[in-house]
Amino acid sequence: MSKKYNISVIPGDGIGPEVTSAAIKVLETAASKREIEIYTKELLAGGAAIDKYGIPLPQETIYGCKDSDAVLLGAVGGPKWDNVEPDKRPEKALLGLRSGLDLYANIRPVVLHEGLEAASPLKNPGKVDLVIIRELTGGIYFGKTGFYQSGDKLSDGTVKGKIGFDTESYSEGEINRILKIGFGFAMKRRKKLTLVDKANVLVTSRMWRTLATQMSFDYPEVELDFLYVDNASMQLINRPSSFDVIVTSNLFGDILSDEAGQIVGSIGMLPSASVGVIGKPGMFEPIHGSAPDIAGQNKANPLGTILSCAMMMRTVLGEEEVADDIENAVKKTLAQGYRTGDITFVGDNNNTKLVGTVEMTQAVIDNL
Ligand code: IPM
Ligand code: MG
Repeated sequence: MSKKYNISVIPGDGIGPEVTSAAIKVLETAASKREIEIYTKELLAGGAAIDKYGIPLPQETIYGCKDSDAVLLGAVGGPKWDNVEPDKRPEKALLGLRSGLDLYANIRPVVLHEGLEAASPLKNPGKVDLVIIRELTGGIYFGKTGFYQSGDKLSDGTVKGKIGFDTESYSEGEINRILKIGFGFAMKRRKKLTLVDKANVLVTSRMWRTLATQMSFDYPEVELDFLYVDNASMQLINRPSSFDVIVTSNLFGDILSDEAGQIVGSIGMLPSASVGVIGKPGMFEPIHGSAPDIAGQNKANPLGTILSCAMMMRTVLGEEEVADDIENAVKKTLAQGYRTGDITFVGDNNNTKLVGTVEMTQAVIDNL
């Protein structure tokens, strides 16, 4: 074997361990067929780390990730840790990894796979193939936040009392670097870029618009348009197949990507790549959460995580063939009718077979 990659695996909580172990099996098999060796080391984050160390993101997890070629993450969080201090919530681990590894660009492809039309709640979804480029280390997720007391009164006389605040702020530099990624994707795709913002209300959104307009002169082939986020959420349902590349802020990208997940049948199908500085490790994860209600029951859809491994191979490791092999095996598996519960629907006439995580994974491996 010639090439070797070191992958840090953070299984996390809930269905995280099931989907990551499934995806790693697929990745190892696909890679070995192309003479590539995959070495994995497991690291703790989220609830699993709280249970062991009392904190969601131990330093050694950050060091471990930095010291690898790429990171695969399952999901973090669950009701067990809902009452821990805000600073120690499992989700803090995810945010800490994103900022700690400087992963400012979150790439979320949204594809309606052939055979899954029945799983979409839309009557005629058409051919959906878009990508959401979400800014990942700025905006309201990382802005100034806190509480203070106020003795002031509201117009009806009630005292304001405790006031909580979160702040949306973006620098030109942060906006420009994510826009550049967006234009880059548009050039490689259908050359359509939609900036989603709330420029009718927010100062930061107006900055995004101005900078996008300026940058568009460097990409004359790309058709740039703008949508307010409320309208975008409507248009995604109304004309999903008209979108190519969507670029947006951290919060709007979070919200719209869940909506997009539903359009293509299940959020369980969506992979993601979080990348930053070239040459530094990226992090790859399904966009779904830890789904504690089905954890440990062999019910989770592993395809979002398996497809995240394909993104890992393509996006940062440059192993196009392995990525293609994995994606083709997933397509074939769906064409053969394998379905986990989340993508099983009444009236689906594709001769479907309801299977669990393990069987779905084995089917993908058999199709490699
Ligand atoms: C996501 C998730 C996270 C986010 C949560 C778990 C903090 O919803 O990756 O989309 O909001 O970014
Ligand atoms: Mg989300």
